[in-house]
Amino acid sequence: MESLYELKKRDGKDRVVLAIESSCDETSVAIVKNGREQLSCATATQTDIHALYGGVVPEIASRAHTEAICGLTEKALSDSSLTMDDIDAIGVTNTPGLIGALLTGVCFAKGLAYATKKPLIAIDHIKGHTAANYLCFPELEPPFTALVVSGGHTSLFAVESYTEYRVIGSTRDDAAGEVFDKVARVLGLPYPGGAAMDRLASEGDKNALKLTVSHVEGSKYDFSFSGLKTAVINKVHQMEQKGEELDHKTKCDIAASMTNALIKTVITRLEAYFEECPEIKGRPIVLAGGVAANSHLRKALKETTEKYGAVLYQPPLSLCGDNAAMIAAQGFYEPILDEKKALTLNAYATARINPLKKA
Ligand code: KG4
Ligand code: ZN
Repeated sequence: MESLYELKKRDGKDRVVLAIESSCDETSVAIVKNGREQLSCATATQTDIHALYGGVVPEIASRAHTEAICGLTEKALSDSSLTMDDIDAIGVTNTPGLIGALLTGVCFAKGLAYATKKPLIAIDHIKGHTAANYLCFPELEPPFTALVVSGGHTSLFAVESYTEYRVIGSTRDDAAGEVFDKVARVLGLPYPGGAAMDRLASEGDKNALKLTVSHVEGSKYDFSFSGLKTAVINKVHQMEQKGEELDHKTKCDIAASMTNALIKTVITRLEAYFEECPEIKGRPIVLAGGVAANSHLRKALKETTEKYGAVLYQPPLSLCGDNAAMIAAQGFYEPILDEKKALTLNAYATARINPLKKA
């Protein structure tokens, strides 16, 4: 089936998507016009609940989504002064993420589409993160290179068109956000610790800890972060065993050293891609995902892209974390599901952008 983007290109009429996002611990409903103009975005975060357990508890996440989703849909409609009659299609994240959490959004979206006789669109969360950039950079269009860095994913993609993504490199183990969150936890910071780690790193010495930048056997572009995570956690445990105090300065030094090693891992892959793949020449670099909010990563990427003469797009902090506006933006470009596919739409926990289809 065609996308709303293709339909608009044919008849020039505006198209409005209402989208649902529930892949992890944010429930969000947003309304976006023509994939570019955010009309509303109502989001409920569950971080306070999960902070009690030091991480996301999947079943609690699903229950909290179920409680929040109807109210947020009403809020997204009233904030935009629209009714369901003004909506052209309903979009929903159906992969990747926590399966129970995804299913609450998918079932709600299917029910809403069925009851209102609106078409349904299935959206990949990772492509959604990238599409956050369409909401603030009207001139941005594929092809470009996307670096998606989040709590669950870290990948470098060649984005050939709005819907075709080719994996250049991806993490073999932990995602970058997971390293921030786990190290934050051993430093006694509340979940999710990414933003607090960012602040501590600004005050610390990035050379205080000797940490190595990982190398992945057989791939220049894949990432590995579990060694870095384990090295830092072991260091903290050793200090505790020796009775050494984890004072503010030490925490800042640990955060700065870890952040520096993680960023170097990302930058070396991007530099290798710049050096070795002519396809990247002239293409913009697009940053996306929750970890895209990291001030040190943003600065390092700016320096690297300037060095190679590439244009860099970085979304505002408000669009880095999970939200449904980015899902609605991507939904504009994705094919509308036919009736049978809409009725049988399922959710998938693991990423479906095939990591084996390498450059
Ligand atoms: O994209 P996201 O909201 O969820 C996933 O799709 O995974 O990313 C959440 C991740 C968390 O790990 C959080 O700690 C991290 O993004 N994060 C940061 C910062 N702000 C959020 N990591 C580093 N520095 C930040 N400023
Ligand atoms: Zn996300």
